[in-house]
Amino acid sequence: MQYNQAEISRRRTFAIIAHPDAGKTTLTEKLLLFGGAIHVAGAVKSNKIKKTATSDWMEIEKQRGISVATSVMGFNYEGYKINILDTPGHQDFAEDTYRTLTAVDSVIIVIDGARGVEQQTKRLMEVCRMRKTPVIVFVNKMDRESQDPFDLLDEIEEELQIKVTPLSWPIDSGERFKGVYNIYEKGLDIYTPNKQKISERVELDLDSAQLTEYISEAQAKKLKDDLELINEVYPSLDTERYLNAEVAPVFFGSALNTFGVKELLDCFVRIAPAPRVTQAEERAVDPYEEPFTGFIFKIHANMDPNHRSCIAFVKICSGQFERNTNYKHVRLGKNLKFSSPTAFMAQKKEIVDNAFAGDIIGLPDTGNFKIGDTLTSGENLHFKGLPSFSPEMFKYIENADPMKAKQLQKGIDQLMDEGVAQLFTSTFNGRKIIGTVGQLQFEVIEYRLLHEYQAQCRWEPVSLYKACWISSDNQAALEDFKRRKAQYMAVDIHGRDVYMADSGYLLNMARQDFPEIEFHFTSEF
Ligand code: G4P
Repeated sequence: MQYNQAEISRRRTFAIIAHPDAGKTTLTEKLLLFGGAIHVAGAVKSNKIKKTATSDWMEIEKQRGISVATSVMGFNYEGYKINILDTPGHQDFAEDTYRTLTAVDSVIIVIDGARGVEQQTKRLMEVCRMRKTPVIVFVNKMDRESQDPFDLLDEIEEELQIKVTPLSWPIDSGERFKGVYNIYEKGLDIYTPNKQKISERVELDLDSAQLTEYISEAQAKKLKDDLELINEVYPSLDTERYLNAEVAPVFFGSALNTFGVKELLDCFVRIAPAPRVTQAEERAVDPYEEPFTGFIFKIHANMDPNHRSCIAFVKICSGQFERNTNYKHVRLGKNLKFSSPTAFMAQKKEIVDNAFAGDIIGLPDTGNFKIGDTLTSGENLHFKGLPSFSPEMFKYIENADPMKAKQLQKGIDQLMDEGVAQLFTSTFNGRKIIGTVGQLQFEVIEYRLLHEYQAQCRWEPVSLYKACWISSDNQAALEDFKRRKAQYMAVDIHGRDVYMADSGYLLNMARQDFPEIEFHFTSEF
């Protein structure tokens, strides 16, 4: 076991989450720059579909191409192996992001200093909270006129429901932005706008007379007052509480100007968790256990529509994965061997002989994998924790070409296994309902069914508010509910009972009328 401990403990696997445009791509790029993984800014393609092109298929196809390369970006930094998992920028693919969050050990949240906490960040934070994922916050774009930093901290605490500990503090913003005081390392970082180079630190005592050579007297006074207040109001960094997801360290900076990014990264590698214990249904799996275990959290399908080839992304939960070794596909109960597993370094993917707990590898696949599948050295384990969330939009999906019913069925099944959207089958009339978080997902499904499965679908409106998974300790009450609400009952792809509420009002009524039934907005309860 000794041999891989150091390899595992030096891994830091995380995702950057943000509302679109807050600066996720820019920050990712700057982190790669520090890791020496790229050499010039502008090298990372934005993995987002431009807002103007929501129906532009070429754009989506292109985006899918880019996103395989940038799905995971690995690099070495000061002895650490860092894996950044990219998340789709477009909010219609939020479901994809939720799943990616099951494969990371921590998260960096980017917030636009002028806009504050935005909608999508709040939703993604809910997922982090459910999973107790440690988060660090980076308040970006301080070179632009930003909100008052104390207000921002209040907003983060309130909107993201997490306590904060500022580890750097901005001196003004916008045109008057002078830099940050690094509370974590106790130094003054003077701002010089520069898109390529790394900002430099001025070692300066706050009481030194030289301070006013860099910032105005008023700014110096305000900085000292602010720091005093911070001292009184906010606790100093408690790594344990951060690791328990109770408190979020906050940094301020400007990703575009490479300012405050190194400080973030230096603190990150020091405090962010190495691979953590993963909970399987049977037991908790420690990353340092020698036998290999892992699960599929993402499937990237059909790079070439003529060959149904996919890449299944595996998060390694324990031990070491080796090429050309037999591993057990627990759901299928069979052994599989992989001759060309790929790992991701910088923006390249290459075939590797081995990889360790914390790493993500890509396995070329021709239909063996579904999202959530477990691979092991032999043990029968099932990793939990890939919850489905109630979709926001629903439509009936119908066959538009009677000659191609089989193809349509197959296409729908495979796209659902891949996690493109959620399928609910009405137990009342057998009709299929597709649930998504955004309109774009319907368009992607229609397009892919046609191009990859030669099947045509038609959408029909259905007015639904939420899909609620239901449970009860009282089996008779559950059966009674299902009988009385028969018209609204459906099953998900795992056969679980789902109540399709058609309005918030009726959902509330159902809650009142059936107190023994529990209604869940995620499939994990
Ligand atoms: P995203 O991935 O979170 O969607 O955001 P992205 O990094 O693409 O950044 C969104 C926009 O914000 C980009 O401008 C980017 O240059 C800008 N930006 C990022 N960080 C900073 C910062 O620290 N200060 C300022 N002032 N701007 C920042 P764009 O005009 O949309 O794109 P581009 O044409 O510059 O690429």
